[in-house]
Amino acid sequence: MSLQGKHIVLGITGSIAAYKSAVLIRLLVKKGAEVQVVITPAGKEFITPVTLSALSGRPVISEFFAAGNGSWHSHVELGLWANLMIVAPATAATIGKMANGIADNMLITTYLSMKAPVFVAPAMDLDRYRHISTQRNIEKLKSDGVQVIDAAEGELASHLEGKGRMEEPENIVSLLERFFAAGNDLCKKKILITAGPTYERIDPVRFIGNFSSGKMGFALAEECASRGAETILITGPTALPATHPNIRRVDVESANEMYDAALKIFPQTDAAIFSAAVADYRPEQMSGEKIKRSGKEKFALSLIPNPDIAASLGKIKKPGQLTVGFALETNNEESNAMKKMEEKNFDCIVLNSLNDKGAGFGHDTNKITLLFRDGGKQPYTLKSKGEAAKDIIDAVFSPTLSYPIRSNIKIP
Ligand code: C5P
Repeated sequence: MSLQGKHIVLGITGSIAAYKSAVLIRLLVKKGAEVQVVITPAGKEFITPVTLSALSGRPVISEFFAAGNGSWHSHVELGLWANLMIVAPATAATIGKMANGIADNMLITTYLSMKAPVFVAPAMDLDRYRHISTQRNIEKLKSDGVQVIDAAEGELASHLEGKGRMEEPENIVSLLERFFAAGNDLCKKKILITAGPTYERIDPVRFIGNFSSGKMGFALAEECASRGAETILITGPTALPATHPNIRRVDVESANEMYDAALKIFPQTDAAIFSAAVADYRPEQMSGEKIKRSGKEKFALSLIPNPDIAASLGKIKKPGQLTVGFALETNNEESNAMKKMEEKNFDCIVLNSLNDKGAGFGHDTNKITLLFRDGGKQPYTLKSKGEAAKDIIDAVFSPTLSYPIRSNIKIP
């Protein structure tokens, strides 16, 4: 059922394994998916567009322009239409072009415009597969967030035995089914994430800040983006990069700036995750000049409260909008976190305790417990922040999860 109605862009390249693409299309269509084939010029030497369009029920796209009337094939529209793109079979040449952005055919331009998650299923002779340049390009694709379906071992078209066979269509389909069933598809969703610390200026050279690194929020943004969500990352000052093309980064400095940016964006979003460590107070007045040390007398700074971004947005939250907060606690962790969830109208709160080694500010790891509105509780072991981000997004968006959080969000 998880492939029902899904829009799949199937890229086909010049490999003898292109005959398997015909089976792949049939299986995907049988499961209710809509398949749009984009084939490279070399691919057409191995399988005809007539076969592919008959099986997919859609004209096959290969050129930038339709030969007859010169109309343009929009790779941008395909990038927005798809829930997933898979290149199967993917040759060494196409993998190399994808890894390096060499957009000299319709398939690569489509890849560069793709908002949805991308898979590749390599197929090539064993020497080409294990060649250092192919392996380097595969690693590059993986680090770009592409999911690589490892080639299988066996007899190759050259009659040599080894690794390089395209994975069987049945296995690819079951992998994609599991991918969608696990809530991995966040295409067409717009998600707001706040991250990092805020800086509250005292004078032109000093501020009140905190030790938040922004790593957890950035990991969450990368995770949402790689699942196809249009992700808006509002971040306080941090040197971290946000690399995924689905992330729109908004840099702010103070809590007030973060509040203004979040308030503007929140109404159009499907979900918001508040991971920023927002300063609770700011100096009542910012001195226009550097404050001088005048003597030994005490120096008092008058502080006024900052807006609570999460609580304010919790008040204007619409049905169907999902909000997730964080609680970093030192004592009475669970009851404090539950209280926070109520006060700020969260659907789920991520609790991390400063008492856990390796959890919280600055670390590359985190040990989290998810608490849900109905009292549901899901503890996790110490993991990298990237892994913890996967757990959070899985739990919050998984259609198979039994928590009532499901009632608040519409999964396509
Ligand atoms: O600071 P506190 O523990 O109350 O933070 C809990 C949650 O509220 C976090 O998700 C944090 O990002 C959010 N928050 C906020 N604006 C504030 C304070 C906290 O959005 N001014």
